[in-house]
Amino acid sequence: MISRSDFGADFKWGVSTAAFQIEGAHGIDDKVPSIWDEFTHRKGKIHKGHHARMACDFYNLYPQDLDAVRNLSIPNFRFSLSWTRIINRDHSVNEKGIAFYNRILDGCLARGLEPWVTIYHWDIPHFLEEKGGWTNRDIVSWFGEYVEVCAKYFGDRVKHWMVMNEPMVFTGAGYYLGIHAPGRKGLSSFIPAMHHATLCQAEGGRRLKFLLPQAEVGTTFSCSHVEPLNNSPAHQRAAVKIDALLNRLYLEPSLGMGYPVKDISLLSRVEKYMKAGDEQMMAFDFDFIGVQNYTREIAKRSWMIPILFATLVGAHKRKVETTLMNWEVYPASIYHMLKKYGAYEKVRKIYVTENGAAFEDSLLNGRVEDKRRVKYLHDYIAQVHRAKQEGVPVEGYFVWTLQDNFEWAEGYRPRFGLIYTDFETQERVVKDSGYWYRDFLEEKIVIS
Ligand code: NOJ
Repeated sequence: MISRSDFGADFKWGVSTAAFQIEGAHGIDDKVPSIWDEFTHRKGKIHKGHHARMACDFYNLYPQDLDAVRNLSIPNFRFSLSWTRIINRDHSVNEKGIAFYNRILDGCLARGLEPWVTIYHWDIPHFLEEKGGWTNRDIVSWFGEYVEVCAKYFGDRVKHWMVMNEPMVFTGAGYYLGIHAPGRKGLSSFIPAMHHATLCQAEGGRRLKFLLPQAEVGTTFSCSHVEPLNNSPAHQRAAVKIDALLNRLYLEPSLGMGYPVKDISLLSRVEKYMKAGDEQMMAFDFDFIGVQNYTREIAKRSWMIPILFATLVGAHKRKVETTLMNWEVYPASIYHMLKKYGAYEKVRKIYVTENGAAFEDSLLNGRVEDKRRVKYLHDYIAQVHRAKQEGVPVEGYFVWTLQDNFEWAEGYRPRFGLIYTDFETQERVVKDSGYWYRDFLEEKIVIS
C-alpha cells in the first residue's frame, strides 16, 4: 500500500500544461504568430485540419481552470509562457502579454497554487523562424533576451523554472521528420537546430540563475526506456544508439559530457556548427531535471535506415496494450528512466514533469468513466515510488494534463486530460481520473 505521504511531505504533486495547447486567443492582444500558428494553417499537417485558434480558451477561461486545479487538491500548476505574447516583432516587450501572464501567476497565488513555469514549449515566433529559427545561431541571443524578460517580469513570483520542454521532440519532429512545426526535414536542418537548442538550454539556465539566484532552475527531457528486440548483438547495438538519441542527446551536453558521438557517429557533423568554447557553453549545473515519460521503445537493427542503421518496432506490431497515441502502456519504463537518470552523478534532483495517457473517453450522463487512465496513473505512480525507495532523488510528479487539449499534429483526437473538454461549448467535466488523483492527494485512497 502506498499513500501520498509515503513520498514525503515535500514531494511536489502537480499537473502540467502548455501555452499553445490550451490558450487559444490566437492574434489577441498583439500576439505575433508562432510557428505553430503558421503550421496549423498548412494543408494536411494536422489531423482533420484542426487548429488551436480557440483550443481550450484558457486565455479567457483561466479563472475556472485554476479553480479546478485547486478543487482537485493539486498544489502545483505547470504552464508555459508563449514567446509570441511577450516579445514583439521589433523585439520590444508586449505589455499586454505580460499582463496576461501576471493574471495567471496572481491567479495561482491567490488560490494557493505554486506556479511552475516553462519558458519554451515549442512555439517560437514565426518572424524568427523566417530568419532561420533554431537553425540560426543568433537564436542564442534572441532566446537569452526573451529569458531575461521572463525573469525580470515574473521572477518575483515564480520559484520553479524550466528552460525548455523536450528539445529532442521539437528538434526531431520539427526539424528532422517535418511532422511538427516548422515542418523542416533532414540532417542539415536537424543538426544546427539541435546544437543551438543545446546552447540555449544552458544559456537560459545561466541567465535565469544569474538574475534569480534563489530560484530553482531546471529543464525537461522526453525519455523512453529502450530495449533491444532480442539478445542479438546487432539489435543490442541498435538499442544503444536509439537510447543515446532519445535519452542522452540533450542531457549529457548539459552535464559537461558533450554529445554522445561515440554511440551516434552522425553527430560528428555538429562540428561544422561548433565554435571555440561551445563545449563549456553547452554545460549548466541545473538544480533539477524534468523527466517526461509515457512509454518504452523496442529497437532493432535496420539496413533500411541509412547512417543510423537502427529503428523502432512500433507497439502495434508487438501486440501490446497501447494508448491512443499508439504508445505501449509499460509502467516500468518510468522506473528504469528514473534509475538511469538518477545514476548520473551530476543530476541532483529529478521531477517527473509529465506522465499521462490518451484513451478513448466518452461523456455519458455527465460522467467520464476513464478506468484505463486511472489504472495507468496508478501503475506509473507506483513505479515512481519504487525508484524513490531505491534512492533515486525524485522529488515530484506532474500529470500530463489538466484538460483535453490540442495535441499538436494529432489535433483534438487524443484526449490526455484529467478533465474532459467539450471543444464545441468549452464545457469542462472532471473525469473519474481527476477525482481519483484528488482522492489520492487528499489521502482518501492508496495505491495497492
Ligand atoms: C509531451 C509534450 O510536452 C506535450 O506537449 C504533449 O502534449 C505530451 N507529451 C503528450 O504527447
